[in-house]
This record gives sequence, structure tokens and C-alpha cells, in this order.
Amino acid sequence: MADIAKEENRQDIRIVIAGHVDHGKSTVIGRLLLDTGSLPEGKLAQIKEKCRRTARPFEYAFLLDALKDEQAQGVTIDSARCFFRTKNRNYILIDAPGHTEFIRNMVSGASRAEAAIVVLDAKEGVGENSRRHGLYLSLLGIRQVCVLVNKMDLVGYEECRFQEVSRHYTAFLRRIHINPMSIIPVSGFLGDNIVHHSENMRWYGGKTLLETMEAFKNEELPLDKPFRMPVQDVYKFTGDGDQRRIVAGTVASGRLSVGEEVVFYPSGKKSGIRSIEGFHTPKKDMVTAGYSTGFTLRDQIYVKRGELAVKTGEQPPCVGSRIRATLFWLGKKPVKEGDQYLLKTGTARTGARVEKILQIEDAGSLRFMAKDHIDRYEIAVCILALDREIAFDTAAAFPSTGRFVLVSAYDIAGGGIILEKLQETAPQKDLYLACGKVTFAERCRALGQKGTVLWFTGLSGAGKSTIAVELERELVNRGRFAYRLDGDNIRSGLNSDLGFSIPDRKENIRRIAEVAKLFCDSGTIVLVSFITPLRRMRAQARSIIGEAGFIEIYVKASLETCIERDTKGLYAKAIKGEVKNFTGISSPYEEPDCPTLVLDTEKNSVEDCVQSILDYLKL
Ligand code: ADX
Repeated sequence: MADIAKEENRQDIRIVIAGHVDHGKSTVIGRLLLDTGSLPEGKLAQIKEKCRRTARPFEYAFLLDALKDEQAQGVTIDSARCFFRTKNRNYILIDAPGHTEFIRNMVSGASRAEAAIVVLDAKEGVGENSRRHGLYLSLLGIRQVCVLVNKMDLVGYEECRFQEVSRHYTAFLRRIHINPMSIIPVSGFLGDNIVHHSENMRWYGGKTLLETMEAFKNEELPLDKPFRMPVQDVYKFTGDGDQRRIVAGTVASGRLSVGEEVVFYPSGKKSGIRSIEGFHTPKKDMVTAGYSTGFTLRDQIYVKRGELAVKTGEQPPCVGSRIRATLFWLGKKPVKEGDQYLLKTGTARTGARVEKILQIEDAGSLRFMAKDHIDRYEIAVCILALDREIAFDTAAAFPSTGRFVLVSAYDIAGGGIILEKLQETAPQKDLYLACGKVTFAERCRALGQKGTVLWFTGLSGAGKSTIAVELERELVNRGRFAYRLDGDNIRSGLNSDLGFSIPDRKENIRRIAEVAKLFCDSGTIVLVSFITPLRRMRAQARSIIGEAGFIEIYVKASLETCIERDTKGLYAKAIKGEVKNFTGISSPYEEPDCPTLVLDTEKNSVEDCVQSILDYLKL
């Protein structure tokens, strides 16, 4: 099929099919092949006949199995993929039989999917597995999703059952930022709404599966992003007296031309591009994302495999040895803090220790569970301490150079995406230890609690202070030593010289973070409730207070809701232009990428939100 695609200059699209094993993925694929006329002549009849002879009910899975060994015309199937074509495009359907292969391929970049089909069972509805698949797709950045509510024939083609399952799953997907392109009631077995519109479900007016697939867009190569090329190898020319070296690799993003200057990270070495060499192809002046290439440099510099080549003047990568990352765990053995693995990102390899497990996501409730180990198939946010400095990107900025895999005993045991670079650990800041003064540990022991900062961020009117007030009351009632910092006691006093311009807000947050740090050091549970609108402000607060004591809580409510609530009447004034730089109206609010807790105040009561925090704190 790949050859045909090249000949005719047709596009390929890679689509992953996810779903619980019993929900009918093979049936859907089989039916798609049948109804698009992709099956070899007589194949279906042959398999049906075989089933009849062996007295087994026919299943499309048998058909797919039989096709695996054949070189059929319109379709090719191997262990995890199925290639077929329509008049518009070539399709590569990637079967995700278990989580393991799918995630492994996705995070290692071996087979990136551009879109996904999730198969649900109309009878079974939405289970833990379906939710987990959705979560994977969301975290891996797949945004084009089609949901099939399969086996509609088994529920009498009832619209209300379809609506129920569909509502349930879309509500979940919305929470993880996926907006499905279609949700289709189908029967894979009987072919309803797979390629042909179903006669049995006239109440459904949307697209069929094939129509939705044809509407999926091909992912564009990141040509306009900054240039990135992990160095795969450095080859020496072997000709007499020829000292040049070819730096080889695959361009992950951007473009590079002869004459431009590149910097290699982490070494920081620089040189100009003398020539771009092709493999068995003529020399070129430029190379772009998606291509394997090699280039020679103007200067004799020594670069190594594992470095990241970047263009001078473009955004540099991060260089560091501590990262915060989302980890998808696939290994049989659970991960504990202190465990050691081999981390691979781009072409770089280094030992990595799981320094801290910050949170583990529960696919069921989408809440974070407080656990000290990560089990198989769980998704966790953790801090990884690397044995040496490497160059990398954050996944939000560069999906291809912002992911990594963890290897244990030669096998990929987990994979992940990089959220941010962290500062190297400072030596324990217990300044007073040497001169006999009271230490943090002693104070915590005396108080029977650990100093912690709960940093509430969110729009004005989202409910930060309401929750903080209730939580403070609850903590004090339970005999905890807690203290709240908010506009009432800070903006009116210490920070009364500050307004709402971005520099003022930055200074506001810096001072508050410094104060919170002192309270935290005193052993207090500090509840800090300020909008803290920008990511860099929250990152600064985190870095002042220190990773170990900082818990970021996103109090979430849409701008529309906050405007509607308008508890202080300020939104109305801001909309009229009477209050300047108002967050959400005339000043930005950046949602947190990966907060420790998200409290959605549109869906949950104040009591529920308070309870979530108490649960998290195990109080
Ligand atoms: S922050 O951006 O510096 O973190 P902070 O939380 O201290 O803001 O103050 C926000 C509160 O101040 C709002 O809840 C609102 O009551 C009031 N306020 C007054 N002017 C503004 C403004 N321009 N933008 C946002 N909030 C404002």
C-alpha cells in the first residue's frame, strides 16, 4: 500500500482504534473493509463457509486473522495494523489491543496516530477502560476523536440508550478537553452506520464512520516551529585527508538551510552548516521536519550522539537534570520513589531516579489519588532526577522532543511527556541547624503536622476564597494550625502599594510567596488565595516555596459563570471599562497545565471541594 501511495502521491492517515477487547474493534474493522469493497473476492464467503463446517458462529475476527497471512489487493493486515484505501486516502488503522503496545508506540514516537476511534459497547456503557483510553488520547495530544456506540442491534436500536451512553462519555471527554467529532450509533456486525446510513436508526442524522474518517485532517508536519534535530550519529568521511564529519539524525521540527548556524545542546557548541548531505540522493540546500538527514559543519567541533541540534536565534531547548513529567506506567512492577530506570528522549540516554511521586490520576473520578506507588496502567505526575544534564523540550511546546520512555531490563516500562524543567535540588535549606536553633523538622514534630502551602489559583469569583475560608475553619476545628492569606489581609496591608498591572501582580505574588514560605517553615498549613493569573507567576511561587511544600489547586469556573456570579459587581464594571486590567476581561488568565487538584465549582459544592482537599492531605 505504501508504494501505491507514493505512486499516486496519495496521503496516508494513521488512526488508532481504542476500546475494550470485547467491545467489537475487530468487528468494526472487518465490516469497514467489507463495506468499502476492500476484501478480496470471495474471502468473506470462504470464511463463513469454514465457520459453518466447524459449527462456529461467524466472527469478523476470523476474517481479519485469515487476511493476516495473505498479500491481498486492497488490504494488508499485520499484527497490529490494517492498511486499506478509499478513493481519497490510504488508511492505516492501528489496533490498540492492550494499553501497553499502544502507549509504548505512541510515547516512543514509533507510530504516532493522527486521529482515534474509540469503540464502546451500547449494552455495557462507559467503563473504567473506556475512560482510561480517553485519558491516554487526551494526554498524548490526539484531538480528532470519533466515538462509536457499538452493538446497537443488541439494544433494539434504541435512541434513548444511545443518548445515555453518548451523554455519559461526552461529559467525561469534555472534562479531559476532548470534543469528539462524531458520536455514532453503529452495529459493526450488521454494518449499521459503518459505511452506509442505517435503515434501523433513522433517528440518527449524523455522519457514518467512514464519512467521519474521511473528514479527519492529516496532521501537519511542524515545519514552522523552531528547528530541532536529535543527533543520531556522527560519521567521518574516510577519503584521503578529508577531515569532515557528517552529523546525522531525523529532523523533528522546523527547517535548516546551508549557511545557517546551529548550536548543540547540552554542550553549547556552535558552527555553521557547510552542506546538507542526502542518503543516495543529491545534495540539498534545505531540509525540513520529518526527514532523515546529515550535514557537515564549517568548523571542526566534536559533537556526540544524544545532543540536540537547534538553530541560533531560535528558542533554545531546556537543559537540565530534573524534570516534572506525566508518566504512563506499563511495567508489571509498580514504581516507588527512589526507583532507578534508563530514560531515553530523542537520542539521549541517561539514568533516571523517580525522586517524588506527586500525584496519581484516577481514570474513574479524574481526581488525584494519594498513593506512594504507581501501578501498571496508572498515570502519574512525578519528579525525575537524571544522572546527567540533557537537552529536552516541554511537550506543550514541542510534542516530538518533549516525550521520553523509561526502560527497565531492556524493555520500555513506561513513557511520558515532559511538563517542565525543575531547578536542581538545593541542599536542604535548614539554615539554623548549624547554630543550634530550632529546625523545620523539630517544629513540625512539635505541632504534629507538616508546614504546607495550598496555593489556590483561578478567576475572580471562581470560589477560591470561599473554599479557603471553609477549609481553614475545618482544619482549625480538627486541631490543625492553619492560616489564610488573601486579598483581605495582604492586598490591604503589605501590598497596598500594588495595583493590577502585570508587573504589579508579579510583585504581589512574589511577596506573597515569600510570606507563605515563612509561614510554611513555621509549620503552618498556609492557604493562599490569589488569582495568580500567569503560569510564570505560579512557577515562581513554586520555586520560592520549594517543590515539596507547594500544592497547586486550580479553582475552576468558566468566565461566563464568574461574570454571571459577579459577587463583587466588578465584572460589570470591567465590561463597561470602568475597571482596567481586569482578569478574564482585559487581562489574561492562563489555566494551569497540571495542577495538583482541580476543583470545578460549577459541578461541585463547597463542601465537596473542601473534602477533596482533606482527602488529598489525608486528613
Ligand atoms: S492577582 O492577579 O495579583 O493574583 P489578586 O488575587 O491579588 O490578583 O486580586 C484579585 C481580586 O482583586 C479580585 O478578586 C477582585 O476582587 C479584585 N480586583 C480589583 N481590580 C482587579 C483587576 N483589575 N483584576 C482582577 N481583580 C481585581
